[in-house]
Amino acid sequence: MPGMAMANQDAPAARTAAGSGPLGLSFCGLPFASPIVLLSGCVGFGEEYTRIEGFANSDAGAIVLKGTTGKARLGNPPHRVFETPAGMLNAIGLQNPGVEQVVEHILPQLDFSETRFIANVCGSTLEEYVEVTRRFDQSPIDAIEINISCPNIKEGGVAFGNYPQMSAQVVAACRRVTTKPLITKLSPNQTDIRDNARRCIEAGSDALAVINTIMGMAIDVVTRRPVIGNVQGGLSGPAIKPIALLKVHQVYEVARPHGVPIIGQGGIASAHDALEFIIAGATAVGVGTALFYDPMVCKRINEGVADYLRAQGLENVTQLIGTLRTTNETQDCAVSG
Ligand SMILES: Cc1cc2nc3c(=O)[nH]c(=O)nc-3n(C[C@H](O)[C@H](O)[C@H](O)COP(=O)(O)O)c2cc1C
Repeated sequence: MPGMAMANQDAPAARTAAGSGPLGLSFCGLPFASPIVLLSGCVGFGEEYTRIEGFANSDAGAIVLKGTTGKARLGNPPHRVFETPAGMLNAIGLQNPGVEQVVEHILPQLDFSETRFIANVCGSTLEEYVEVTRRFDQSPIDAIEINISCPNIKEGGVAFGNYPQMSAQVVAACRRVTTKPLITKLSPNQTDIRDNARRCIEAGSDALAVINTIMGMAIDVVTRRPVIGNVQGGLSGPAIKPIALLKVHQVYEVARPHGVPIIGQGGIASAHDALEFIIAGATAVGVGTALFYDPMVCKRINEGVADYLRAQGLENVTQLIGTLRTTNETQDCAVSG
């Protein structure tokens, strides 16, 4: 149930050291040194950027590992990524070595004193989600994020996350097999994200990640073929930021009364972007696509947010969460033209 999660009881002392200063915060009981979360699929298994001079995992409050399934997956045929105006399409197909390999061989190599590590759980069936969650529950991972955007093979391949009922089933089943903080990553590809958020909270989600990518496509007009091998792909980057911001604002209405924190994400590439998401209601802010073209973006976001807090006379970033000033109730179908 919400609030059931506890920070890992066996956590080394180093893990509880972070979480102070203007940027420090507690997320589901986990100390984050910064509100920045490096997003799943954009940082491999936590080691990807550590080879770049000047980059430090400690610049992020947490790092979400690549989506992990029960068995190893080779992923989709090429092309898997394609640059679009102000964003990128991807259809990687959840390439990963499988949960056993991640727990046995990758997690022991991560430095848990630098930041928090969050697993990203994927599955083609309810049973697979449960199996992967249970395996991570027995590992040193700090928290578990469920990627409910995966296709449900028993229901003709529709994404679990596009239907509130199916989303809630996944959350409830995973909740039963872990006491670690459980984060549900909501899909924007649905009619009413608030309904989905509400159902996931009732099913036991401790936190929500808002949003995953938005489905899109690109066509090669010479060959008249889709550019992406999988035909469609997830759009990310600055192109989706206004959509993501509205979804965070909407989900915050539902999550706030339950004290359920949000990791806002979708096109964040600057301190200004991060501040917008926090004001809309995000406790933490995810950075994904921006890392591909600016690996040092986290340092600048941390500095920019700290400068803003100082200028506004705020002692800690949490004082800014959900401080949006609105004069009117949000209209569901606001007239755009
Ligand atoms: C190349 C790539 C791979 C991704 N892989 C995953 C994944 O395995 N699991 C997941 O939940 N999200 C995945 N995502 C979605 C991101 O974690 C993030 O939610 C999304 O890209 C929006 O943030 P951004 O605009 O900052 O990239 C992936 C995104 C990209 C660009």
